[in-house]
Amino acid sequence: MINPHADAAVRADRAVDHDRLQARIATLATYGGREDGGVSRETLTDVDRAARRYLVDEALSLGCEVAIDDCANLYFRRAGTEDLPPVVTGSHIDTQPIGGKLDGAYGVVGGLEAIAALNDAGIRTRHPIEVVAWTNEEGCRFGPGAMGSSAFVEPAGLAGFRQSEDGRGVRFGDALDRTLSEARDLAHRPLARPLAAYVELHIEQGPVLEQAGLPLGVVTGIQGVRWYRVTCTGQAAHAGTTPMDRRADAMLAAMDLARQLHAQAGEAADTPRVTLGRWLVEPNSVNTIAGKVTFTVDARCPDEGALEHFEAFLEAAARDLGWRGTVEVENVFRKSPTIFPADLVELIGRSCDAVSAAAGHPAARRLSSGAFHDAMYLAQHCPSAMIFVPSKDGISHNAAEATDPVALTLGARALAHALTVLGQGTRP
Ligand code: GLV
Ligand code: MN
Ligand code: MN
Repeated sequence: MINPHADAAVRADRAVDHDRLQARIATLATYGGREDGGVSRETLTDVDRAARRYLVDEALSLGCEVAIDDCANLYFRRAGTEDLPPVVTGSHIDTQPIGGKLDGAYGVVGGLEAIAALNDAGIRTRHPIEVVAWTNEEGCRFGPGAMGSSAFVEPAGLAGFRQSEDGRGVRFGDALDRTLSEARDLAHRPLARPLAAYVELHIEQGPVLEQAGLPLGVVTGIQGVRWYRVTCTGQAAHAGTTPMDRRADAMLAAMDLARQLHAQAGEAADTPRVTLGRWLVEPNSVNTIAGKVTFTVDARCPDEGALEHFEAFLEAAARDLGWRGTVEVENVFRKSPTIFPADLVELIGRSCDAVSAAAGHPAARRLSSGAFHDAMYLAQHCPSAMIFVPSKDGISHNAAEATDPVALTLGARALAHALTVLGQGTRP
């Protein structure tokens, strides 16, 4: 099909400014910036709130209208020529306890760059274009992950999220209220309002694009994820006096279970990736047997049946551990695999291919996402898809996370191209 808006899309993508994009990425990274080059900006902390303010000022300087909703999702809106639902892009600006400069931040800053490019190219779109910074995508301070986008799509879930507590006993609801009260000057938007489409730009966070030598990828879907909290309760006792055969050692039980869970993991299409990332040992003393060990389990797989099987295995293994204590398993997050609509993937793919070709690269790779993203919830609400750029050495959730700056610019160009096409009302 010949696209009548191709000219405007090319003008928008060429107006993307490499230096301006780099400067905004670098400035955003100073909020929570670390000496090792990483960023510590967990959701709804003081640095997160300061970073939000920085983005609000940037968006205002681009002529955007700024708004917030009940989950503190922030919206930066470039007006359309008609009163239509917006075409939305964006991601999140919260990070892991020690994260990089790009996970999430790139999608938000890339969206602002697309708006700047549309401004510079003098292009008006029929639909408004909005950039959103979703609250608490990472889920490391308050579980579960992708709270803001989930609450947007299913507002009834927000009441439960408000009860979630961080490691210091702060409630998500209280941190949220504080953030909302500091944003009283912003317009308020309802959750679950109609959106025309959602396109998220993100770093891949894995090795596929780098290994293929390609700067752009079009994401076809996101694998399923389940999180559990496992609590092994034994008996704290003296390390020197308690005979080995009379112990209820919670650490021993947790290690036994951990070994069994790791043995379930693998790289086959129907085998989950398994991560036991957070451990809490009580009383955590050199000369006391651990009385209680709590650890988290993150299981991911594109095959929902494999996640079901893993869950049944976890429950049976916890039950059959054969020791003097107890094991409790709680499922705290679950999301089935997401498949993005093929026609939107194809439309985004054409934008990526056009930008790749203009830069002398082969067509963009179609690939599935190993990480989860806000787009997995948005896909329940409106046609959604994603664009990936490569990650150096496939590393993310690490201060060393990096992407070739040229690829970052190509990603923003592909986004500007796709938003222009969608913003003119072209449907796949
Ligand atoms: C997102 O940060 C994820 O854990 O996939
Ligand atoms: Mn992310
Ligand atoms: Mn992340």
